[in-house]
Amino acid sequence: MARAVPQAAGLYPYVPGKPLETLLREKGLSRAIKLASNENPYGPSPKAVAAMQAIAVEVHRYPDGDANALKVKLAGFHDVSSAQVLLGNGSNEILELMIRAFAGSGDEVVFSQRGFIVYALATQAAGAKGVAVAEADGLSHDLNAMAAAVNGNTKVICIANPNNPTGTLHSNAAIQGFLDRLPRDVVVIIDEAYYEFVADELGDSVHELSHPGLVISRTFSKAYGLAGCRVGYAIADRAIVELVNRFREPFNLNLLAQHAALAALDDRDWVMARVCDTNREREMLEAALHQKGLSGGRCFGNFVLLRHKQSSEILRRLEDHGIIPRPLAPYGMAEFLRVSVGLPEENAEFLAVLEIIVSDLSDQETLTS
Ligand SMILES: Cc1ncc(COP(=O)(O)O)c(C=O)c1O
Repeated sequence: MARAVPQAAGLYPYVPGKPLETLLREKGLSRAIKLASNENPYGPSPKAVAAMQAIAVEVHRYPDGDANALKVKLAGFHDVSSAQVLLGNGSNEILELMIRAFAGSGDEVVFSQRGFIVYALATQAAGAKGVAVAEADGLSHDLNAMAAAVNGNTKVICIANPNNPTGTLHSNAAIQGFLDRLPRDVVVIIDEAYYEFVADELGDSVHELSHPGLVISRTFSKAYGLAGCRVGYAIADRAIVELVNRFREPFNLNLLAQHAALAALDDRDWVMARVCDTNREREMLEAALHQKGLSGGRCFGNFVLLRHKQSSEILRRLEDHGIIPRPLAPYGMAEFLRVSVGLPEENAEFLAVLEIIVSDLSDQETLTS
């Protein structure tokens, strides 16, 4: 067989949430509820759908390789220069491009042990060394320990705020305190994929945070309901954007995606109303889990954490009922399941099924003890 680069040996593909179709096939079910990928259950703005329908007849043409209209719109939205905006095929591509552009063999990338898993995968793919720092309390980024892990080889630091899968959030003041302790030439990615869900608590990070190597990444996959379109972006110093653009594939943002994102930005009221719906449902789910003694901790974002020593049995039984949560064993959190906030009726069904499963498990425990 042809010989791959050495870092391929330790690399494995990202494991996404189980697709609906897979569960339906596996269990012979006719319907299922996917709560595994932190998607927006309400779907995209109707304006985004109309924009995609209108442009569909043009897909024989290449899109604008620079996605200039979207870049200009995002720049206006954030009150920055369009030269500070980098667009990606999902924010996942932004993370990969950043790490590839700034870290290679002999370099180090610092992230949290239970930070978003793509940081570790992208670092390994780039041939750099990942430095995974343990969380202070098992869930939350330990900013002191992360600052202490930085050395002359550190090129990139990745922090998800809020973090997926732990759902923890740091204030902008805490993040700025961390940034102030770092060398000026380190690239710091503050991954704000779930920003819209915490905008009120967090404030305007784009203007409140400062560091020469600061990169704030956002996505249209969560609050905007466009996960299938793959649109992410970052705001950074123009020199960083110019450099990373050299690594970007031409036409990385497809035609439908560019038009959907433009229209979604024009329908902010609709998007923010769905964010309110999601936050309200998340609070309801969290309170219900807490009341059952099953809460895995307070979560910011569009998901909650369930904690139980028999979480893999709960996962199996939820799937038997056509409900797909996300197991967190790959993060070393074997007792946890991550459950995305669904539509109100989906959340109610999840809680009702969970109630049956948990009372059955506790009956079994009583019988065997
Ligand atoms: C913290 C975080 N960052 C980035 C992403 C990537 O999202 P996308 O590539 O869809 O923008 C995700 C997706 O779940 C995420 O949870």
